[in-house]
Amino acid sequence: MLLPDSAGRDTHGRLRVGDCDVAGLAAEYGTPLYIFDEQTLRSRLRSFRDAVHAWPAGGDVLYSGKAYLGLAMVRLLIEEDCGLDVVSGGELAVALRAGLDPRRIGFPGNNKTEQEVAAAAEAGIGHLVIDSDHELAMIAARPAVPRLQALLRISPGIRPDTHDFISTGQLDSKFGFSVENGSAMEALRTALTLPTLQLRGVHMHIGSQILDLRSYPAAIQMMATFLQQARRQLGFVADTVSVGGGLGIAYVDDDDPPTVAEFMTTVTSTLQAALQAQDLPLPALIVEPGRSVAGPAGLAVYTVGARKQIPGVRTYVAVDGGMADNIRPKLYGARYQPLPVVDGDGGSARELVTLAGRYCESTDILAKDVELPRLDAGDLVAIPAAGAYTLSMASNYNVSQRPAVVFVAGGIARLVRRRETLDDWLAPEVGPPIPA
Ligand code: LLP
Repeated sequence: MLLPDSAGRDTHGRLRVGDCDVAGLAAEYGTPLYIFDEQTLRSRLRSFRDAVHAWPAGGDVLYSGKAYLGLAMVRLLIEEDCGLDVVSGGELAVALRAGLDPRRIGFPGNNKTEQEVAAAAEAGIGHLVIDSDHELAMIAARPAVPRLQALLRISPGIRPDTHDFISTGQLDSKFGFSVENGSAMEALRTALTLPTLQLRGVHMHIGSQILDLRSYPAAIQMMATFLQQARRQLGFVADTVSVGGGLGIAYVDDDDPPTVAEFMTTVTSTLQAALQAQDLPLPALIVEPGRSVAGPAGLAVYTVGARKQIPGVRTYVAVDGGMADNIRPKLYGARYQPLPVVDGDGGSARELVTLAGRYCESTDILAKDVELPRLDAGDLVAIPAAGAYTLSMASNYNVSQRPAVVFVAGGIARLVRRRETLDDWLAPEVGPPIPA
């Protein structure tokens, strides 16, 4: 099932999410429109949270805001007793603005600025994830108060089975200190000498859209071995570890992702076994899921415009969005499985089409060779599993305006972000006044 948990069709074949009529929402808020099903967001977060609460040493679920972030999302995290993983001063500011307890914030990132490190320290965040010698030097130069809480990002030398562009755990990566070549132990040695820093433990994140969980035990084993060496060589005992995020989701029917519970069982059972084998105490456990929370909850809705039939070649059906709101097909070769918002008799004849975006690039294709009922200008088409890494990576390409976002639950739709306007685009322009 690719659609959000609460989705279904009424007797007229009209798609509903959160007990709201999708075509009605499109009419009210315009398209492209991104609809988030609160039930899916909450149930995913709860599955992670319940598993972390069951971990003997406790821990936290820090939803990875880079997948999708907004004030409403942060407020929902607060309601669900979860924290946030931020990767920039901007994301940090959004979290604080929405009222999130700073101690529930983690801050990874491979090249934080001095201002970002200062903002994190002053806010009193849960932990900064140290990623480089440059950052260690920056932290060394900081005042001793407030003392920064931190984890050290290690790169366990594991390459998960995912797209090259979203694999991060291998030796050749811009992220973290390599365990393999000894730089992680060196960084730990330095970190432990800094009075401006309280090092709590280690962090890893091996990649994203991981559908085969076997990469996790291997990486966790590396982490446990590293922690055992850290205790032996430096007397360091971690009180917190983060295993990052990475759990994949279904974008098309062929995808068969593990459940959140399966992911958490794999992580907790291997971590517990690996640490106990080294006779190490269990630290608090942090997970940073992004895609597996926001992805399945999000539905993108577009209006069809032009149709172009090239006899013997293919039929293009163009919609009013595309790569400016969803760059994933172009960037990662990601596949999606669009469906009609209103499916008359459900069994109406299907045709093979390519769903094209409206932007000026031939590679602006949302879904190639997909089966859909005949769609004509004005018809609505939806893309499921569109909640993660779409809006958060959106652009204003071709001076387009980013879509509106609606949260739905129990028959109520809340506009949480309005569609951008041309004035939003013009606001930062500097120069002679623009005639109205
Ligand atoms: N923690 C860290 C340190 C990360 O770098 C990431 C994702 C996550 C957690 C969350 O991972 P997730 O649970 O979402 O897999 N734009 C790409 C994905 C980039 C992932 C970047 N880091 C895409 O659209 O596939």
